[in-house]
Amino acid sequence: MNLYGRSFLTLKDFTPEEISYMLDLAADLKAKKKQGITGNSLKGKNIALIFEKPSTRTRCSFTIGCIDEGGHPEYLGREDIQFGHKESVEDTARVLGRMFDGIEFRGFSQETVEKLAKYSGVPVWNGLTDTYHPTQILADFLTMREHLGELKGKKLVFVGDGRNNMANSLMIGCSKMGVHFTNLAPKSLWPEQSLVDTCKEYADASGSVITITDDLAGVEGADVVYTDVWCSMGEEDKAAERVALLRPYQVNSELLARTGKENTIFLHCLPAVKGYEVTEEVFNKYADVVFDEAENRMHTIKAVMVATLGNIEH
Ligand code: CP
Ligand code: NVA
Repeated sequence: MNLYGRSFLTLKDFTPEEISYMLDLAADLKAKKKQGITGNSLKGKNIALIFEKPSTRTRCSFTIGCIDEGGHPEYLGREDIQFGHKESVEDTARVLGRMFDGIEFRGFSQETVEKLAKYSGVPVWNGLTDTYHPTQILADFLTMREHLGELKGKKLVFVGDGRNNMANSLMIGCSKMGVHFTNLAPKSLWPEQSLVDTCKEYADASGSVITITDDLAGVEGADVVYTDVWCSMGEEDKAAERVALLRPYQVNSELLARTGKENTIFLHCLPAVKGYEVTEEVFNKYADVVFDEAENRMHTIKAVMVATLGNIEH
């Protein structure tokens, strides 16, 4: 498998085999790190980390993943560079592409990360936009593999803001990998039909079933119940409206009981606002798996950088 030189802008860009390859590589890098073994596949590589929005997990994962492999990460925050204020995305991309070997971008518009890739000429990784959060899905899948075994045939139910970056990326990832995906959300927060149609094509090929519903019965049979904040970064002004709309969709013990399964796991990309999208009780019960998921951000992001930029045998 050779992903060298590729950008990671959305999971749509990768085949199921390529996604599996990155997960296998992440598992391997994780096992090595647990033995105290790090690599040097990014030796001599400089990586720009552009953050228009704040981050704990993604920033730290790119930083540590890069350093563990011998590379140099450079954090470029919203106020640190001319980007978006004095200089166009295209020109910033052309400058950074001449100095750096890879660029991570977290921000608002998906168009920005796509322009960065187009004009920089180096691999660009999407660390979250309003539309997608693709690297998070690799961590979620690695965690599912560790706790539940093979992905194919499992059922994942996303409950909450069904049109946010997490819901979109989970739908793409699940439909590609043969994981049945249910989006459980009030109708006004359903995903765009064009994305659902695209994912239904992936699902036909992988044997997964996609369901979009506002009926809480949709949680039945879930192997994974997943939620995310009700107001994503940049949507803080919508808080009151979202709370009113999403209250019935809180992940609590009653909702989990409706899975009818004993071994369902709960996942959350974090950060969590306990008492809203998930109760403190449910969060605490599944804290081990949720923090495995958070740790796996680092192993999977490292795998993405190694696969697309690393000096390894492909
Ligand atoms: N899950 C996630 O992306 O977390 P951060 O916002 O802390 O990076
Ligand atoms: N939907 C959330 C995800 C955070 C990792 C947000 O965009 O704020």
